[in-house]
Amino acid sequence: MILVTGGAGYIGSHFVRYYTRCRPAEKVIVLDNLVEGHLEALDGLANVHFERADINDFESVKKILQKHGVDAVVHFASYCYVGESQENPSKYYQNNLGGSISLFRAMDEVGVKKIVFSSSCATYGVPERVPIDETHPQSPINVYGLTKLLIEKILDGYAYTKNWSYIALRYFNAAGADKSALIGESHAPETHIIPLALKTALGTKDQLQIYGDDYDTPDGSCIRDYIHVEDLASAHLLALEKLSEQRGGQCVNLGTAHGASVKEIVALCEEITGKKINHSFSPRRSGDPARLVADASKAASYLGWHPQHDLRSIIETAWKWEQSKRY
Ligand SMILES: NC(=O)c1ccc[n+]([C@@H]2O[C@H](COP(=O)([O-])OP(=O)(O)OC[C@H]3O[C@@H](n4cnc5c(N)ncnc54)[C@H](O)[C@@H]3O)[C@@H](O)[C@H]2O)c1
Repeated sequence: MILVTGGAGYIGSHFVRYYTRCRPAEKVIVLDNLVEGHLEALDGLANVHFERADINDFESVKKILQKHGVDAVVHFASYCYVGESQENPSKYYQNNLGGSISLFRAMDEVGVKKIVFSSSCATYGVPERVPIDETHPQSPINVYGLTKLLIEKILDGYAYTKNWSYIALRYFNAAGADKSALIGESHAPETHIIPLALKTALGTKDQLQIYGDDYDTPDGSCIRDYIHVEDLASAHLLALEKLSEQRGGQCVNLGTAHGASVKEIVALCEEITGKKINHSFSPRRSGDPARLVADASKAASYLGWHPQHDLRSIIETAWKWEQSKRY
């Protein structure tokens, strides 16, 4: 039985839906405190049992793990706003780091030794080389990225001392929505470029703000590696399968190895929606690298993972969701 922390959030809920499609006979336990998540994201999933709880609540988490006979955890629960992590580091240390430590302690006490962890390309900081592979030095430049790196290190400690098996998946930019359009991205506030561009196309947002058009890139705007949320979901299932044979820990990038600039995103959003996206440029934000693109070869060789969606499919599914959003 698997337990999914943060399973009512954006990526977690897509993973849960994907998992129940692939393994209809298996039950999934979702643990989420709903600070950011949406219970509606789990609507209609027969084999999902929801536990409203906080990963910081050691006793409750321990009971939940025991009660359901959990043998592996997929750990998405986290705060995710880079800017907020700089303004309020304690909030991020407490929830992301403290919450993970509490979760790991509960797992340790009940003997759960397998975990897939949502890490991030933010652990690399400003890249020395692009594409970024897993051996690239990790020097995060924000508190959010630092919490993810520290959690990777703590998992390493459990692997050495307690024979845990873990896979830390370092995602690049998650985007897109389930093809059903029943679930999709819904953050408050929203900070991600694709939903913001689509909200502008829809008219629920006046103007899209683009930070910097003087980067050393072909069109002057930042380049990022966008990865469809369903492709992320499939990688988590492969990682879980891998954990049954793996000893120790592994870190794996999840990206497409293709970069797209902000201006290219805007142009493709305009083409797909058929609407003009009102946008303006402001100065660069500090700490925003010009290019962040994954070397995703380890995900292919180690997990057998090959992303199925391109940027068009990301924007098409996100647009379908944006127009029919339920939460
Ligand atoms: N979205 C991206 O592009 C991206 C990129 C890299 C890594 N990640 C990581 O992926 C994971 C999921 O991201 P997301 O975009 O789905 O975020 P999200 O905010 O939509 O989901 C996070 C979920 O965790 C829950 N949660 C937070 N703190 C909790 C706690 N203390 N106890 C229980 N539940 C708690 C929230 O309610 C929410 O449902 C996060 O760990 C994030 O850092 C995301």
